[in-house]
Amino acid sequence: MGDATIPLIDLRQAALKAVVPEVVSPANGLLADRLGRPLRDLRISVTDRCNFRCSYCMPKEVFDSQYKFLPQSSLLSFEEITRTARLFAAHGVQKLRLTGGEPLLRKHLEVLIGMLAELRTPEGHPLDLTLTTNASLLTRKAQALKDAGLQRITVSLDALDDSIFRRMNDVDFPVADVLAGIEAAAAVGLWPIKVNMVVKQGVNDHEIVPMARFFREHFGSAVVLRFIEYMDVGTTNGWAMDHVVASAEVRRRIHEVYTLEPLNPTADGETAERWRYTDGRGEVGFISSVTQAFCQDCNRARLSTEGRLYLCLFASRGFDLRELLRGQASDEQIAAAIGLIWGQREDRYSQLRGQNAAPDQPGGRKVEMHYIGG
Ligand code: GTP
Ligand code: 5AD
Ligand code: SF4
Ligand code: SF4
Repeated sequence: MGDATIPLIDLRQAALKAVVPEVVSPANGLLADRLGRPLRDLRISVTDRCNFRCSYCMPKEVFDSQYKFLPQSSLLSFEEITRTARLFAAHGVQKLRLTGGEPLLRKHLEVLIGMLAELRTPEGHPLDLTLTTNASLLTRKAQALKDAGLQRITVSLDALDDSIFRRMNDVDFPVADVLAGIEAAAAVGLWPIKVNMVVKQGVNDHEIVPMARFFREHFGSAVVLRFIEYMDVGTTNGWAMDHVVASAEVRRRIHEVYTLEPLNPTADGETAERWRYTDGRGEVGFISSVTQAFCQDCNRARLSTEGRLYLCLFASRGFDLRELLRGQASDEQIAAAIGLIWGQREDRYSQLRGQNAAPDQPGGRKVEMHYIGG
């Protein structure tokens, strides 16, 4: 076994204990962390597996046939996920995003979607229910996902050029099948479709304008293309600052060809800065976690495949909710434990990294993105 796999496995085993407070007060949707940030968005990883091997996320050399993915018994069941999501909704969560790995690899995912679609906020509204996928299985599954109650979808796509795309996914997957998946999602009404492109200097940055052109010409406002600054998540992708193309540069390149104007944010704590084409052919977004951190109103929590609660994409350890879910704890007790954890949160990794003050993670390790999702 290569040395590089050992820290990953160690990291997954090091969970923090989720503690039930002595005084259990009911969730009232008013939870705030130490920096005054509410809890609004829960991102649920339903599998740590993926059929792609994007080098910035699951490089082949590490995630090979020797790599030990989580066993079935470690995964939260659909009932456990739904119970947890219900408790988060009581604390004010309004949006659920299913991620992976590749979430469509989880068997019978539409059953889980049906269960989550039944949840309501304390005010009685359904939650915003969405999913991030590489779209490799979307043509087959779009209709079932829609029928189960999924509202919208986000597709990861880093290039239109087939040879670049095949190289980036590193499993020789053709771009035409991803585009067919996006068409299928549009046809069944999973709108608005968002397409996320991670831009890596010298790898796919010359695809910026072709991607912008393609999506505005073919889909107009049915698809929102978002450009993501390549981030230093995890420990396996060999990130360096000179791989990053700043959003300001991406925007400049598009603006040279298609003029853009800024839009107001639609939601508090949004990741993307929104711009629209002045000729009315839709909008694009810029997610600038490296050059313009958006931690100050980060309202996102992440639930790993095995039920650990992560307070930041760059955290090294998560809190073990599964132990409570599989023990004797009541809903009220688990909700109180979640409240206690969120109340003590002060994570703001990207902001600190920007000030060259990123905290040292234990052992210098950060969790891998395929394990807690984007
Ligand atoms: P919408 O509700 O559809 O706008 O989703 P979103 O932007 O909240 O989520 P999405 O999963 O589409 O996020 C897109 C990308 O933004 C992710 O793949 C990450 O690269 C990045 N991202 C999302 N959330 C965070 C975050 O909390 N911190 C940082 N640093 N990056 C994030
Ligand atoms: N930097 C930025 N985004 C990343 N993603 C995965 N790894 C990185 C990274 N290093 C994004 C993918 C996908 C989502 C699951 O996470 O593009 O949209
Ligand atoms: Fe899979 Fe998405 Fe990671 Fe690529 S970025 S390896 S598609 S989880
Ligand atoms: Fe939130 Fe952490 Fe991302 Fe900052 S770096 S926006 S705190 S997840």
